Amino acid sequence: GPLRVAVLVGSARQGSLNRSLALAMMRLGDDRLAFDVPALDELPLFNQSVLEAGMPQPVARLQSTIQAADGVLIVTPEHNRSITALLKNALDWLSRPAGANSWTGKPVAIAGASAGRLGTVAAQQHLRAILGYLDMPTMGQPEVYLQLTASLITPEGDITDESTKAFLQGYMHKFHHWVRTHRRVDAPALG
Ligand code: FNR
Repeated sequence: GPLRVAVLVGSARQGSLNRSLALAMMRLGDDRLAFDVPALDELPLFNQSVLEAGMPQPVARLQSTIQAADGVLIVTPEHNRSITALLKNALDWLSRPAGANSWTGKPVAIAGASAGRLGTVAAQQHLRAILGYLDMPTMGQPEVYLQLTASLITPEGDITDESTKAFLQGYMHKFHHWVRTHRRVDAPALG
């Protein structure tokens, strides 16, 4: 069957460029990848006391999605030269409780779009450091720093430029290979 991929979109904005990009990338994943797109804006703001009192339902749902995923694809805007609070909040929640980091070992790839020319390069550098700490094998190449306008990728995820489409197709091909190579296949329980 297809490999399961959880897609984390770092913006909950109506008309998000990064959501359009994520949709476009999912459409290029063909039938070898099956995608879940959890709603990160349902999560409360991380608070360790809340976690210690019992994992909130939306966090538990995200945890199940991540546990079931063979890999993770992160598509995020850049906010003030870093990743968005929405994305950081999700990463923080599932890094806990201590000793039960749900992200460990999940192969991951990252991409991002902005209206400006730098195309989220600063945010992605920060994100790579976080993913290293979370112990996630992170795809190094190709990098996706996209300056995006609504006409390049429609809200439905149609890519109107052939060279962009070919580039993202190659990225998704490499990503499939990355997940297949690095995913953890748990040994069946003994006895
Ligand atoms: C931005 N934006 C932005 N862009 C950028 O290239 N580098 C940056 O550091 C920032 N910082 C920033 C901070 C905040 C608080 C906001 C709201 C916006 C602009 C950003 O690229 C633009 O809003 C994108 O459209 C965001 O992506 P979505 O929401 O369309 O996916």
